[in-house]
Amino acid sequence: MGSTFTEEEIVLWAYRFESKGPEELLQWAVEQYGTDIVLASSFGAEDVVLIDMLSRVAPATPIFYLDTNKHFAETYETRDRLQERYGTTFIQVLPNLTLAEQAERFGDELWASDPNQCCNIRKVEPLTRILSQYLAWITGVRRDQAPTRANTKKIEWDQKFRLMKFNPLASWTSDDVWQYIKAHDVPYNPLHDQNYPSIGCSVCTRQVLPGEDPRAGRWAGFQKTECGLHK
Ligand code: ADX
Repeated sequence: MGSTFTEEEIVLWAYRFESKGPEELLQWAVEQYGTDIVLASSFGAEDVVLIDMLSRVAPATPIFYLDTNKHFAETYETRDRLQERYGTTFIQVLPNLTLAEQAERFGDELWASDPNQCCNIRKVEPLTRILSQYLAWITGVRRDQAPTRANTKKIEWDQKFRLMKFNPLASWTSDDVWQYIKAHDVPYNPLHDQNYPSIGCSVCTRQVLPGEDPRAGRWAGFQKTECGLHK
């Protein structure tokens, strides 16, 4: 368990899995890493697909969520419905600072004055902490979500967090995701039905307008398109 691959091997495996489906990749990844692999879930559309697939392919795989304390009520309710449906307990990863401590140190509503620093405290540092316990992680990143994600490989070395990264849905479109959710009757965040295609913290996510980019509702009004988990 806990395979290590050379750079060349990673490229080769990514090439081999490019034409294969996400379940096959998940199965292989879990065979390679056993208890050293973890799924990162924000309970968005892609993540609920992966949770459903893992429940069949490798149900013992740990799943965590970064609890920024600022998710929508609907997101927490989605977590609870998924726990009930799959009998899984998701690992809650909290920031080192409570919201009150953050306000005391950096002022009220840091997300409005400095969203990068807020994301660092509430998402990136907690992610670094949890990933240090694993050798590989699985994410729901898709290539067509954003230009910054267009080159995502299904299997890659995550230079930032220094572990293997598996993106089983990299080649899927949003339509593929929704077809799967409907076909398998997977519980999903009801905000997706109210023009929230991409959901982060409630204070930094708004509905998108007709014709807008699916990620236009994230950090609207700021020159910010990523929070530092993937770029
Ligand atoms: S973000 O970087 O802009 O927030 P996005 O919402 O597109 O990311 O989600 C992409 C993937 O990042 C998800 O499929 C999931 O694997 C991971 N992710 C995002 N937010 C969280 C979170 N709060 N907890 C755990 N994983 C997350």
